[in-house]
Amino acid sequence: MTTNNTPVTVIGLGLMGQALAGAFLRDGHPTTVWNRTAAKADQLVAQGAKLADSVGDAVAAGSLVIVCVTDYDAAHRLLDPLGEAFDGRALVNLGSGTSSGARESAEWAARHGAAYLDGAIMAVPAEIGADAVVTYSGPRSVFEQYEPVLRSLGSGTTYLGDDHTLSALHEMAVLSLMWNVLNGFLQGAALLGAAGVDARAFAPLASKGVDIVNGWLAAYAEQIDDGAYPALDSTIDTHLAAMDHLIDESESLGVSAELPRFIKALTGRAVADGRGGDGYAAMIEQFRKVS
Ligand SMILES: NC(=O)c1ccc[n+]([C@@H]2O[C@H](COP(=O)([O-])OP(=O)(O)OC[C@H]3O[C@@H](n4cnc5c(N)ncnc54)[C@H](OP(=O)(O)O)[C@@H]3O)[C@@H](O)[C@H]2O)c1
Repeated sequence: MTTNNTPVTVIGLGLMGQALAGAFLRDGHPTTVWNRTAAKADQLVAQGAKLADSVGDAVAAGSLVIVCVTDYDAAHRLLDPLGEAFDGRALVNLGSGTSSGARESAEWAARHGAAYLDGAIMAVPAEIGADAVVTYSGPRSVFEQYEPVLRSLGSGTTYLGDDHTLSALHEMAVLSLMWNVLNGFLQGAALLGAAGVDARAFAPLASKGVDIVNGWLAAYAEQIDDGAYPALDSTIDTHLAAMDHLIDESESLGVSAELPRFIKALTGRAVADGRGGDGYAAMIEQFRKVS
């Protein structure tokens, strides 16, 4: 497969789909697009994209069909009536969803003779075509066949394995990380804001804090995989005591203490399970079970 003459179809031209189609166009791929709201194709058409009259025509135009709509249900509402049209084509779903949605899509594609990759975009539209990380899971042979084309979407093109569910699961894992980091930042900004310090002033120190945590990840990952959690820096007991300070400070400044109280409850359960003398990675055991 050459890198710039593979006809590509992009179905779904929301903020992300427009960025995907734009990146294929910039790399010289003949690009056909379709969107429920056709006007969203205007700029892409001006850049050389072909707007298909119907979603069926769009599928027929591309040997590689990329779908990027809100979720798997929306994708299937569009694609299910076209099943046979996918025979012999490659379908890549880049919308977000759960691993069961990915599995069902893979089964659907197999029933209709389509080669299928399930993908996840771990980037914002502005990063597409530059350093975006986009993950793919499904048959390695399909990924390798289309990798040169998919690289148009970003230098972070990453293959996760044969199991179609892996991209959706990795996306969930990264979203969990992202929301937890952001919530921590917001809690800190609220505390400082109550004391008259603005968020801009906090940002450099917050960034340093994220860097410090980032530096711990590899060693914590080893501990999680090995099931042994020697306290390399501080014990869970020490963390638990400091959590009381965060709760007290939040309450005295009139800031929500809901998140710190939740974290303390989780940590308290780890101590009750006998993990007080271990490092923070031992908290994984609290996440592995439903309380
Ligand atoms: N934006 C990001 O930063 C980002 C990052 C990573 C992953 N993603 C994922 O990428 C996917 C698309 O995101 P987006 O930002 O492009 O969202 P968006 O701007 O809200 O666009 C949603 C797209 O889905 C289409 N759609 C929704 N329901 C439909 C239906 N029932 N039938 C036909 N088309 C339907 C919309 O068509 P209309 O235009 O006609 O409404 C539009 O093309 C989502 O799964 C999102 O989680 C986005």
